[in-house]
Amino acid sequence: MRFGAQLLKSLFPCISLALGPTLCSVPQICVRLVSSGRPMLYSFQTSLPKLPVPSVSDTIRRYLESVRPLLDDKEYHHKEALAKDFQNKMAPRLQKYLILKSWWATNYVSDWWEEYIYLRGRTPIMVNSNYYVMDFVLIKNTELQAARLGNVVHAMITYRRRLDREQIKPVMALGIVPMCSYQMERMFNTTRIPGKETDVLQHLAESRHVAVYHKGRFFKVWLYEGSSLLKPRDLELQFQRILDDPSPPQPGEERLAALTAGGRVEWAQARQTFFSSGRNKASLDTIERAAFFVALDEECHCHDPTDDACLSLYGKALLHGNCCNRWFDKSFTLVVFKNGKMGLNTEHAWADAPIIGHLWEFVLATDVFHLGYTDTGHCLGTPNAALPHPQRLQWDIPEQCQAVIERSYQVAKALADDVELYCFQFLSFGKGLIKKCRTSPDAFVQISLQLAHFRDRGKFCLTYEASMTRMFREGRTETVRSCTNESTAFVKAMVEGTHKKADLQSLFRKASEKHQNMYRLAMTGAGIDRHLFCLYVVSKYLGVSSPFLAEVLSEPWRLSTSQTTQFQIRMFDPNKYPNHLAPGGGFGPVADDGYGVSYMIAGEDTIFFHISSKFSSSETNAQRFGNHIRQALLDIADLFQVSKADS
Ligand SMILES: *[C@@H]1O[C@H](CO)[C@@H](O)[C@H](O)[C@H]1NC(C)=O
Ligand SMILES: *[C@@H]1O[C@H](CO)[C@@H](O)[C@H](O)[C@H]1NC(C)=O
Repeated sequence: MRFGAQLLKSLFPCISLALGPTLCSVPQICVRLVSSGRPMLYSFQTSLPKLPVPSVSDTIRRYLESVRPLLDDKEYHHKEALAKDFQNKMAPRLQKYLILKSWWATNYVSDWWEEYIYLRGRTPIMVNSNYYVMDFVLIKNTELQAARLGNVVHAMITYRRRLDREQIKPVMALGIVPMCSYQMERMFNTTRIPGKETDVLQHLAESRHVAVYHKGRFFKVWLYEGSSLLKPRDLELQFQRILDDPSPPQPGEERLAALTAGGRVEWAQARQTFFSSGRNKASLDTIERAAFFVALDEECHCHDPTDDACLSLYGKALLHGNCCNRWFDKSFTLVVFKNGKMGLNTEHAWADAPIIGHLWEFVLATDVFHLGYTDTGHCLGTPNAALPHPQRLQWDIPEQCQAVIERSYQVAKALADDVELYCFQFLSFGKGLIKKCRTSPDAFVQISLQLAHFRDRGKFCLTYEASMTRMFREGRTETVRSCTNESTAFVKAMVEGTHKKADLQSLFRKASEKHQNMYRLAMTGAGIDRHLFCLYVVSKYLGVSSPFLAEVLSEPWRLSTSQTTQFQIRMFDPNKYPNHLAPGGGFGPVADDGYGVSYMIAGEDTIFFHISSKFSSSETNAQRFGNHIRQALLDIADLFQVSKADS
């Protein structure tokens, strides 16, 4: 009864632990137990409510409503019949198991989500799963690459220490409701280990170094001297020593990291064959056991508001680089360009974007406001020249292994070359003016995306907007299906062009209210997609198949969107420092013929967009879609006759 045992294991993780290793094929992830006696970060954890399982009838009603505007009558009636059949026949049994799970598990979704959505994926994680985050782009810090890294690495380890000591305040939703902090646990000392069927996350309680890549070589840099953390100037010295090291890469070393960018099975096999003993194992261990990974790039990147090509290239450099200069398996790679600008490439299984965003806000503000630089751009203080040099990692990479690396590299390169990324700063207005239209900024942007998409493709599509369920214990995300009956009604009326302004305004308000309501439902555990996903997982465990669930789970998200949240921690006054704006980050296209859109409503007066699509699709064009988004935002603002001059 293999299925029975597996079902038991996933429904009752606590029991399977007690039953011992035969049932626990997947190594347990080392997550510290959280007690209510802790002072700060985790103090609310045990009082957070559990994510409730919605009723099947509610979920199916909401599902049918969400697909109504996307289907003609015939297609809709087919869907409806399938759904009702599922609801009456199979669903009660699946739901029973799910409710059982929800009694025992801390969160009925999150462990399955992590495993099936992220860790079991066998396709490359580069572009398909990892995402990126950008630097402050409107200010200059220092142009010295090693100095920037000195401050930033110091700030990161300071954050890690605060995390250890729980000196970080939990983020509050609406300023009053504490949000779950469990995802922060695996921010550092974490790597994804490839396996043949599934990857696992390895998290260590100890890690006192970073691994660095520069010009095809890998290095180990200690972060401590004795028990004290190296000062920014000492770290600068160490990174400068790497930049000054003229030694060439060893055979196979330069493109080694491409293994983490290609297929997972190939990587798992290569890791076992070539990296399980000797100096290869020791060197790989150094990377996998590092606090995080650092890439010293040889290119320069920046933002030029008059030339979108710059920001787009900057984004592509962070999303995939040259396919072998980021370690895509690490929880994150910190990338520093030759001109001192930087960014992150982040693995997705261990946490969602707001978690790394929290670290990033701390790091950017600490760098500028607390650490600073000398007039010549160096870190403050005097370096300790007696520090032992960074260590070069030693490899013995045979030719067969080099061939595997080359194949992974070719797979990754094809994937990277196919990504069209268009990043731009929308300069006409931001949150300030949107609020004058008396609507939520997020709804405003989402409805603009719907209008832009219709103008771009001549049709509507299933739309994914990420929202958080962190008001519940161990909550991660829920999908807001933001193409609604109401938004399509508004878009159609806009496109027809025969309606009075007042009518359009009223249609817009309905669409906006609907969106806000959907968002609230998703955040409060009454979404659609996680519940259906979990019912599907139960059906797989039970070995039964539901045509309805199979259809739902295979519907492509041709528009996948996400707002980057900002100011989770207020470390400076944005009104006083309006140029201290970070454009957020972005991710690759989710469907072959779709768009990925990430946006950051940055302060009062501007919005940054990151749009991705595939060159290989003749139907999409990220730049064209970007232009439609610009126009849609302006057209909707025009309905309310507010202009920048009034603000
Ligand atoms: C990571 O390693 C450091 C240094 O060894 C340790 O102090 C810290 O507790 C670890 N962090 C986590 C989140 O486990
Ligand atoms: C969708 O909107 C139209 C017109 O706005 C309305 O007549 C119809 O009842 C709505 N359908 C649903 C399922 O809400």
